[in-house]
Amino acid sequence: MSDQFEKKPPVTTTDAGIPATSDEHSLSVGPNGPLLLQDHYVIQKMAQFNRERVPERVVHAKGSGAFGYFEVTADVTKYTSAAFLNTVGKRTPVLLRFSTVAGEQGSADTVRDPRGFAIKFYTEEGNYDLVGNNTPIFFVRDPSKFSDFIHSQKRMPGDDMRSSNAQWDFWSLSPETIHQVTFLMTDRGTPRTYRHMDGFGSHTFMWINAQSEKFWVKYHFKTEQGIENFTDAEAKAMTAEDPDFHRRDLREAIDKGDFPAWRLDMQIMPFADAANYRFNPFDLTKVWPHSDYPAITVGRLVLDRNPENFFAEIEQASFEPSNMVPGIGPSPDKMLLGRLFSYPDAHRYRIGTNYLQVPVNQPKSEVHSYNKDGSMRYRHNGNQPVYAPNSYSGPQANPNIIEPGWETDGALVRSAYTLHAEDDDFGQAGTLYRHVLSPEDRDHLVNNIVNHMSQGVEKFIQERAIKLWYQVDPDLGTRIAQGLGLAISLQVEEVK
Ligand code: NDP
Ligand code: HEM
Repeated sequence: MSDQFEKKPPVTTTDAGIPATSDEHSLSVGPNGPLLLQDHYVIQKMAQFNRERVPERVVHAKGSGAFGYFEVTADVTKYTSAAFLNTVGKRTPVLLRFSTVAGEQGSADTVRDPRGFAIKFYTEEGNYDLVGNNTPIFFVRDPSKFSDFIHSQKRMPGDDMRSSNAQWDFWSLSPETIHQVTFLMTDRGTPRTYRHMDGFGSHTFMWINAQSEKFWVKYHFKTEQGIENFTDAEAKAMTAEDPDFHRRDLREAIDKGDFPAWRLDMQIMPFADAANYRFNPFDLTKVWPHSDYPAITVGRLVLDRNPENFFAEIEQASFEPSNMVPGIGPSPDKMLLGRLFSYPDAHRYRIGTNYLQVPVNQPKSEVHSYNKDGSMRYRHNGNQPVYAPNSYSGPQANPNIIEPGWETDGALVRSAYTLHAEDDDFGQAGTLYRHVLSPEDRDHLVNNIVNHMSQGVEKFIQERAIKLWYQVDPDLGTRIAQGLGLAISLQVEEVK
């Protein structure tokens, strides 16, 4: 910054590069006279100003990001043919955007919420986007419920305020949410910084190797900074003190050369295991227990460069789970399949048809598609044919790339997944409560839930939620009921 002050400043110009004659005065008839329409410079300033905002993201509006690289640290070619993963030591440039989910662009960083953990790998085979969260699971397992869930988290139509009542109404009517709500209500729901939390691909994905063998995989980015969380009270205090605390922390750490890093661990399931695994391995409300599929370390992600211009490089960044490179594909997770449609559609609306031509979204590999024209297009392949087939050396698809598919058949239905032996909504949340959380974590969990459920939640909704907490764990249900002053102590049998 100081260098900039020492340099001779350039001449102000219009956006068309024409030198401007004043940074202070509009063109007027005499010093006090009326202003003139021919002052195209000031008119451009005002008109551009009116158009500075694009719609904010409908979810994950408040976020921050940085650039860096991903480095392969183990040979994974027996699992995937993805070129960016094919050599130990290979580095691929990345952009990582962190975010909260429910708040608007100006909202505080430190509120209780899942955190987005969206990575764009600029690979030699095109962009690979892994658009995950800091939780390995999610609230719902069917995309048809996503907008209803989000509506319950955001502002209500009447008073335009958020409503704990609506949140617990939705959650208590949707038992599948309880595992993620448990996670969210622990202190991991209020991470100390973006640097001190893990990231997850969350969904199950497919990897395919050069011999066409397929595997089911899960991505775990483990923070090298260590997990650190705020307590509920600390998070609330920081919300008041510095709403941009996470943004500032990330920027300052990178500016001073303290580059945050994550270790990439993968869980890998042989393709054939999925059918009879004890849980539905594609259900986004469940993890794969590590005892069943231990994680192997395959890489390291480092952030070492801040954006120069936040709007251009972070606000306009467009992540899409549908961006998957050869060797990587989706799984039958219905949420993931729904997301494949949703994001490019969101970007066409939020940024515009040619959002992939904005520099931050441009692949670093060549683009040879048959798409053309549209608002603000400037990258093109000259007079390349715009239809296929053609006789003029237009691009040709590569049929040798293995489609990441699986066998499927059946009647068209609207139905829940078929159940696996140990599928239920409460077991893994109970394991988290009983076997993973420390006694102190459990105390905080109870307090966090009681605080949250005390904020204007109607009694019948509290009681319905308590029945779910009993099914997670009778001790947890009892403690929350006591904390809320509810005179119910339902046994698990009574509430099923
Ligand atoms: P493990 O004991 O092998 O793993 C426990 C996992 O829980 C670790 O990944 C650990 O992550 C994470 N963890 C530790 N403390 C907390 C906390 N306070 N809040 C949330 N997560 C925490 O057991 P399992 O693999 O059998 O999983 C048991 C339960 O742990 C699951 O039911 C799930 O609720 C939770 N969990 C499981 C994960 C998985 O992928 N299997 C991932 C995250 C949570 P860390 O190393 O960062 O401490
Ligand atoms: C952002 C839709 C589930 C993580 C978004 C956006 C939409 C959306 C429309 C805004 C995109 C933009 O304007 O740039 C959906 C739908 C889902 C779903 C329809 C379910 C069917 C999930 C899940 C995760 C997730 C399960 C994590 C595992 C994110 C993240 C962002 C985001 C991290 C912000 C990306 C960024 O930083 O730009 N989602 N989402 N979403 N979503 Fe989802």
